[in-house]
Parts: sequence; structure tokens; C-alpha cells
Amino acid sequence: MRSSSSDSLELQTELLLTIPRPTSSCSPLEYSQRPVCKIFIAGISGTNLDMDKLVIRGGNPLLGTVRISGAKNAALPCMAAALLTEEPVILENIPQVHDIETTRKLLAAMGAEVELGYGRAHHRTTICARTLAAPEASYELVKTMRASTLVLGPLVARCGHARVSLPGGCAIGARPIDLHIKGLERLGAKITQEHGYVEAVVDPLKGARLRGAEVVFDRITVTGTEDLLMAATLADGETIMQNCAREPEVNDLAALLNAMGAKIQGAGTSTIRVKGVSKLHGARHRIIPDRIEAGTFIVAGALTGGDLNVAGCDPAHLTAILQKLAETGVKTAVKADSVRVMGDQPHQAADMNTEEYPGFPTDMQAQYMALATQAEGTSIITENIFENRFMHAQELVRMGANIKIEGRRAIVRGGTPLSAAAVLASDLRASASLVLAALVADGETIIDRVYHLDRGYEHIEEKLKAVGAEIRRVGNIFPKRAAAPAQS
Ligand code: EPZ
Repeated sequence: MRSSSSDSLELQTELLLTIPRPTSSCSPLEYSQRPVCKIFIAGISGTNLDMDKLVIRGGNPLLGTVRISGAKNAALPCMAAALLTEEPVILENIPQVHDIETTRKLLAAMGAEVELGYGRAHHRTTICARTLAAPEASYELVKTMRASTLVLGPLVARCGHARVSLPGGCAIGARPIDLHIKGLERLGAKITQEHGYVEAVVDPLKGARLRGAEVVFDRITVTGTEDLLMAATLADGETIMQNCAREPEVNDLAALLNAMGAKIQGAGTSTIRVKGVSKLHGARHRIIPDRIEAGTFIVAGALTGGDLNVAGCDPAHLTAILQKLAETGVKTAVKADSVRVMGDQPHQAADMNTEEYPGFPTDMQAQYMALATQAEGTSIITENIFENRFMHAQELVRMGANIKIEGRRAIVRGGTPLSAAAVLASDLRASASLVLAALVADGETIIDRVYHLDRGYEHIEEKLKAVGAEIRRVGNIFPKRAAAPAQS
């Protein structure tokens, strides 16, 4: 009964002594699912304890109100932005998702004080990067979350040097960071790559700070725009960035940076101007709602034929999603900060292409595919942003969907009832589409590797249960995540 670390062996031995005997009301399957048994079993077989699963019985319409959390993809760059000042930055409406925890570790490893709020303040984070002893992002952390590369720009701008692990490949595509590097070189950083790391230093021959410059992105990149934006705030002179990403998360980051004393104009458009300043100060900022989480729940309401009020979102960020859903016949009522989705009318097929904002987001493609499997007619879905973002399609086919992949196009013949099956999540949004499919499938679906989901959805099973879904999590009682392949 040898397991890897001595303390888990101790734990197993201890628990072995406390396992209760099964009672008549508890079947062997239920008994073996009990956490204590799993740990014992895992101890013997050495299997991975971190394989939480979701079990979903389909068929219930979703009824009631679900509240949307803060946006993961705004919170991550805003946390990185705190590295630009030695004063405290207070962020509110931070989602309780695993990528936030990874970012906390990343910043703490550099020497920043990061306080994740608890209790009533559990959606608040205070970060103070008074001193940064080690401006470095290790492979151990970057491999679990590729958005860790967002610290490259702030670190080189603030400290004059940075060492950041290259993120490596990802389930949805190659995802290089060459545009981040090219942009920082335009601002005067000297960049070398060695042993899987990017080293960036401000060229001492050209002064102690980055220098303002014109940067034109070869293609639109969200975190590339954010990385450069942060670096340019402390550069000497003006930076003009063109062909920028216009995502609301970029805008939200710019709002925080301006609150910290930066001089940014044009965020949210494809041309952003940044007048560099020598110092930034602390600030308090509320993160925008998560438009992808909102879109996911709107599709859940439509698919299940429910009456669901998706509250605390910003409908202005959902235009492309709502327009496409209207095309398929989904009925919604939009208010200032909520979207109500109603009724169980049949949906019509509609083709969809993923685009950069304000187009239809690639992060909603998988969820839209789940809806298309139940629409009348054939939908052609074209993925224009990532080269390998159809991993969910084969899992949906396992549930009875009719989907054919041709390069970057998925041909979805709708109207085929789904039946429950055991399926495997491969990335964050793919796992969301499997949850949606399971909500309408006949029987009990088991979704494996839901740690992907926990990276970007706050308490999704509690939220779904509260509006009538039959969903439960099975797994261990000590949720600890192994290093999942980096994705966001
Ligand atoms: C952001 O990733 C999001 N992540 C992604 O969300 C989202 O899918 C993506 O933008 C597109 O909207 C965060 O904000 C943390 P990109 P990012 O740079 O910035 C290529 C989720 O589910 N490219 O805009 O990494 C790249 O390969 C995640 O929450 C280069 O070639 O995406 C891709 O094909 C997944 N070189 C395209 O550009 C570069 O240097 C767009 O990528 C950078 C990008």
C-alpha cells in the first residue's frame, strides 16, 4: 500500500481505521462512491484522486433566477496589473474559480501580498506588490494556466526585467505568444528565449524604462493587447497600439489602469493610445460580469425549455450572442442588467462563425453547438479563432448528436434526441457544452474531468441545482487539482 507522499499514506492508514460498514440503504456503488472509500481505493491503486465528476439527470426545465459572477477573463489581467504599483489594488466581484487561485499563487511567488477575501468579502481581492523579489513566472504555474503570461508586460515595465515560462501547447490550439514578444520588443525590451523561458530586460543602453512606440498587431489578440497595454502605462513617451482586441475585458482592464493613474484612450476600439507615466498608484475596481457565463446560462434556459432569469449580467456585452439566439428562435426579454429566456418553442438551425469582439465569441462556440444539436435543420459552425476547438463534438456524438467535422467547420444536423452517456471534458468551454447537453439528455450523464469547468465557472452545479437541474458532483472530499493542461 505504498503511495507517493508519506503524509497521504498516513492519511490513508488513519482513514482505513474509520471506514464505516455499509448499511442496507446504501448500495455497493453508492458505498464505493463515498469519499473515504475513494481515498482508500486510490491509495491502493494509485489512481488520481482529482477526478471529480458531475452526474446530471436530464429533462428538467430550468426555472427561476441565476446570478452571474465576475468575469474570469477580466479578473486575471486586472490582478496582473497590480504588479505595476507598490500600492494596494482592491478588486471586487472576483469570481471564485480555480484560475484566480492559480494567479494568487503566481503573484505571491513573486513577493506580492495577495489577500483573497473570505466570508462576506469573498469576492474581493487585495493585492499589494510593494516589493517584487522574484519577477518570475515558473513553468509549474504557467503550465496550469497560460494566462500567467499576462505578467510579462507589467514585470518588465515595473522591474526592468522578467522571466516567464512559455505556456506550451493547449487543447484548443498552438497559441503562441509571439505577438506579445514582438510588441514588447517594439517598446524597447530585449527578449531572449532559453530553456522554455522568455527573458525580457529593458535595454540599459536605451535608458532605464520601456519607450513609447507604434505597435501594430499582426492579428487581434486579447491577452496580447492587455499585456502591451499594461507595459505601455509605465513606458517613457506615448504608445499607439493598432489592430487591438476590443473585448469588454480589455476595456475593464483599461478602466482599472486609468484609476491607477495611467493615461489611456481608445480602449474598446482597435486603436489605443497610452501616454506613459513614471509611477502608478493603488486603486479600487469592480470587475465586470462574466458575459460567457451569462451566455452559457442563457443557452441552458433555451435548451431546457425553461423560464430562466439570468441576472447581474451586462446585456450590452451579449449583443452577438443574443442576436444569433434570436435567429434560432430563442425568446428573450432584456433589461438593464438581466436577460430572461423563456419557453420551449422548437429552435431553428442557424449557421454561426466565431469572430473577435463584437462578433460571436469563440468561448460560446461549444455551448452553441449543444443548442444546434437540438435545433430543426442543419447548422454550420465555423471556428475562426482557434485551430483545434471541436474536442467537445465527439463527446456530443457519443450522446447521440449528429456532427461532422471538416477542418474548421462543424456540420451539425439537429433534431436528434440526446441520450445520457459517460463523457470526458477536454477544456473549459467544452465541459460547459457537455453540461448543457446532459441537461436535455435522456437519463444520467457522467462528465469526467470537471476540473476544467472549475477553472472558469463559479459553483456551477449549485447555481444549476437552484433553478431545478438534477445535478451532483461525485469525487473526493479534499478537492485538490492536479496540474491540468494550461488553457485560458
Ligand atoms: C483570450 O485568450 C481568452 N483568455 C480566451 O478565453 C479566448 O478564447 C481568447 O482570448 C479569444 O477570445 C483570456 O482572456 C485569459 P488570443 P488569448 O491571443 O488572449 C493567436 C476561455 O475559455 N495568437 O486573442 O490567449 C492565437 O493562437 C479562454 O476563457 C498568436 O498567433 O487569445 C489564436 O489563434 C480560452 N500569437 C488567436 O491569435 C500571439 O502572440 C487569438 O488568440 C497571440 C495569439
